[in-house]
Amino acid sequence: MYLTEKEEKMLSGEEGYAVKKSMEILVALGDIYGAERLIKVGSVQVAGVSYQNLGDAGLEFLNELAKDGRVKVLTTLNPAGMDLENWRKLGISAEFAEKQNLVIDAFRKMGIIISCTCTPYLIGNLPRYGEHVAWSESSAVTFANSVIGAKTNREGGPSALAAAFVGKTPCYGLHLDENREPDIHVQVTAELKRISDWGALGYSIGKKAENKIPYITGITDAELDELKSFCASVVTYGAKPLFYMQGITPGSEKYQPPKDQVTVEDKDLREAYEKINDETSEIDFVCIGCPHCSIKEIGEMAELLKDRKVSPNTEFWVACSRTVKQLADTRGYTEIIEKAGGKFACDTCMAVAPLKGRFKAVATTSAKGCYYSRQNKMLTKMGSLEECIEAAVSGKWS
Ligand code: F3S
Repeated sequence: MYLTEKEEKMLSGEEGYAVKKSMEILVALGDIYGAERLIKVGSVQVAGVSYQNLGDAGLEFLNELAKDGRVKVLTTLNPAGMDLENWRKLGISAEFAEKQNLVIDAFRKMGIIISCTCTPYLIGNLPRYGEHVAWSESSAVTFANSVIGAKTNREGGPSALAAAFVGKTPCYGLHLDENREPDIHVQVTAELKRISDWGALGYSIGKKAENKIPYITGITDAELDELKSFCASVVTYGAKPLFYMQGITPGSEKYQPPKDQVTVEDKDLREAYEKINDETSEIDFVCIGCPHCSIKEIGEMAELLKDRKVSPNTEFWVACSRTVKQLADTRGYTEIIEKAGGKFACDTCMAVAPLKGRFKAVATTSAKGCYYSRQNKMLTKMGSLEECIEAAVSGKWS
């Protein structure tokens, strides 16, 4: 890969340890994927924040980098393993909290915004159309590429951090227009009525368009929260982190539907629900906010929970960024949800919090949430917001 004089100096260590290490990572990636050069990025989203996934080795790696590593571009952070303020309320142990706080301290020292959310585009990290960025976190990457029309590969935690310290990323993969062409036409005839249908749609398209870029037709309307949910699901279940939705997402006007074609009908969505849902009627955990909730979703939840009480046998979490919760505070939504017995899980989520062995069965609106909850050994139920609120109140799935 060609390096400018300044980049060569960075690689030789002239700007310190973190930049040198970062350049080594970027050059290695660039060489593996055949990049010709580095390109500037407008922002970075760093994943790999939960101490649960990092462990002591990860913490040590971050502390080494934090000694002299400072980010050069706007850099935001994915969810951590706990609510940084109210971790006790969520049943997180003091030992875990201590380690998680050390992880956060390292990121803070690097100059990263402690946003702890997988929806950075809702809280101020919003790239423009066509902008190159280096994001990790698959749902955010898919949203950036597809809904915003920015350009990013699906970075890992270390390569995103490296891009942040250098301000650049190797130009390969989805940074190049020739790799962004759709390669399968997905015709959707299924009716999409509720938020979880978008997760089911993502499941179905992810399976049918495995490792491909879908060009989706047949959908005439999509709200931001629906697209957010679809982005998380389609990439979790197999597609590349980029899709086009005709007439809805940017760039869809540039391409014709590819010849290779599949359809998604009502029966495919039913099948997706069957695959995602387990046999269980008892629910002891309900979590809404995968990806993290928007203020609109929190408002809908508050409306449904007004004058109701969460079952004493059920824990109900609203996962969102602290910034969005602050908006919820101003609207009175927080008060309604907490009065009903719900808990805000800011800065964290159902996948990266240390939940293994704590709950038997989860209800959620999110297909991605179900995927990761199974890895946390929970039975899963995916349904509409109304069904999830009913499960929280009754402790049952009906
Ligand atoms: Fe976000 Fe966690 Fe879901 S990172 S997309 S809430 S699994």
